[in-house]
Amino acid sequence: MITTHELRKKYMEFFVAKGHVEISGKSLVPENDPTVLFTTAGMHPLVPYLLGEPHPAGKRLVDYQKCIRTGDIEEVGDPAHLTFFEMLGNWSLGDYFKEESIAYSWEFLTSATWLALDPAKISVTVFAGDENAPRDEVSAGAWKRLGMPEDRIAYLPASDNWWAAGPTGPCGPDTEIFYWTGEGEPPRGSNKGTEPAKWMEIWNNVFMEFNRVDEKTLIRLPAQNVDTGMGLERTVAMLQGKKSVYDTEAFGPILKALGDLSSKKYGSPTNGAEVDRSFRIVADHIRTATFILGDPKAVLPSNVGAGYVLRRIIRRAVRHGRKLGIEGSFLSPLAQVVIDNYSGPFPELTENNARVAAELAREEEKFLETLQKGEHEFAKMLPNLLKNPQKVMSGRLAFKLYDTYGFPIELTEELAAEGGLAVDREEFDEAYKKHQELSRAGSEQMFKGGMADHSEISTKYHTATHLLHQALKQVLGAHVAQKGSNITAERVRFDFSHPSPMTKEELAQVEKIVNDQILMDLPVTMEMMDIEAAKASGATALFGEKYEAVVKVYSMGDFSKEVCGGPHVVRTGLLGKFRVQKEQSSSAGVRRIYGVLE
Ligand code: ALA
Repeated sequence: MITTHELRKKYMEFFVAKGHVEISGKSLVPENDPTVLFTTAGMHPLVPYLLGEPHPAGKRLVDYQKCIRTGDIEEVGDPAHLTFFEMLGNWSLGDYFKEESIAYSWEFLTSATWLALDPAKISVTVFAGDENAPRDEVSAGAWKRLGMPEDRIAYLPASDNWWAAGPTGPCGPDTEIFYWTGEGEPPRGSNKGTEPAKWMEIWNNVFMEFNRVDEKTLIRLPAQNVDTGMGLERTVAMLQGKKSVYDTEAFGPILKALGDLSSKKYGSPTNGAEVDRSFRIVADHIRTATFILGDPKAVLPSNVGAGYVLRRIIRRAVRHGRKLGIEGSFLSPLAQVVIDNYSGPFPELTENNARVAAELAREEEKFLETLQKGEHEFAKMLPNLLKNPQKVMSGRLAFKLYDTYGFPIELTEELAAEGGLAVDREEFDEAYKKHQELSRAGSEQMFKGGMADHSEISTKYHTATHLLHQALKQVLGAHVAQKGSNITAERVRFDFSHPSPMTKEELAQVEKIVNDQILMDLPVTMEMMDIEAAKASGATALFGEKYEAVVKVYSMGDFSKEVCGGPHVVRTGLLGKFRVQKEQSSSAGVRRIYGVLE
């Protein structure tokens, strides 16, 4: 029976044998992309290359990428949903296209040397065509030539068979591959025929030859690219004949450890559905939190952006742990189980082990305090609440507990029930919905820019970042190292190691150096180099970053030389004027600068 680690390895081996270079997956926290909180697909770090930047490792790539999707976090707990997953992917950057991509997928899935799946249990979908692109007869033809019966091919509209990571960015028609998971032979027809629920999607091959620049405009990319994605956990579950991802060894050890901590057992016939659901929620959330905190570019729990997602995930895990009867803290020992299982393919988890444990313990403790505070507040309210003749606590009050103390509604309901009260859930839901809409409006703002919109302005900020980095080294000393950066259309935020606040003079000097380089209109040039040669040549490389064997090195005249994926402007004179807006502390030993181009 194939395991998670084995499938990952086989996939890499297969595509390397087909002339692909294995590149390392990237951070879960995208750099320089203000439009998404986490990496959501394997193609995400490759966007610049799909848009036309040459990739240092070549035109055929393969990798496994950590991904997080929290869009349907409320569904987590059923047997299929996950917030963290790995995506196996292979890419052609203007090399092979539909015919070969489909042939590779078919060979990997059905050949006896590889997965040996029964071809009779596979069905596919292809794009039916619309005003943007024609009906994909090329893909359908490729499938037929491989022996796919006509009635196993469904032609579907863009809602099914057009893939884009965001409102803008690279996109195109796709062909999706499904496997029959029902008993016996599948009925005739495609996955859209009888019993669609038993056809499981296992692979998506996207043919990216378009770039959506705005709602109305689709332009052709410089090259015809292939982007494919296979969800690792789901595919393993299917290959093992398991009904649920939680029944595979990717989750087994976590569920077992959780059982030991709670003295319950996952899947025990005496468990109610709610117990197993709590098991799955904790197992999913601890994996996600461990991978976020174990990432070289970890975000920490906070009240905004990615940090808030992490906080919610941790708190939800704590809450469901309590439902399972765990009183004290339990997240750190569970995280250790995740780290032990994944340290091979993800060595960063071991490197950051101490941070994972410390942050989980800290956040858990904080939340337990919140819960206590909420319980205390509730106890104070209770005598008054009991005077209500209908024995109902208003939804507004329950919402206040939630909003002010972070006290979850389920706990309010539990405490209320203990006091013989009901909670006006309808009123609570209304207040909660309003609150959600407000925060969703906020996050939609964020997504408006679209996926990795490498607009001119981001590119300028990216080049300015290199100038700033070098200027800081010159003014403060060689100990300055980049600790993170984030670019929006309005500013660059740059974190770097330095023990003390910068003086006014130092800031003025840095500004002047950057602006001098802009005035000198230095040429920005790129060279591909072996990573070791790049480091030996004095190029700045980021500590803790995973690099390919061959990397791009960007130079700005003789002033700056950095290992970087790009893109950059061609001359520094295009940047305008640089100004430091703010300098402040970021964390111990790390300073943060906000800079703008005017
Ligand atoms: N980018 C495609 C996906 O995520 C392969 O499904």
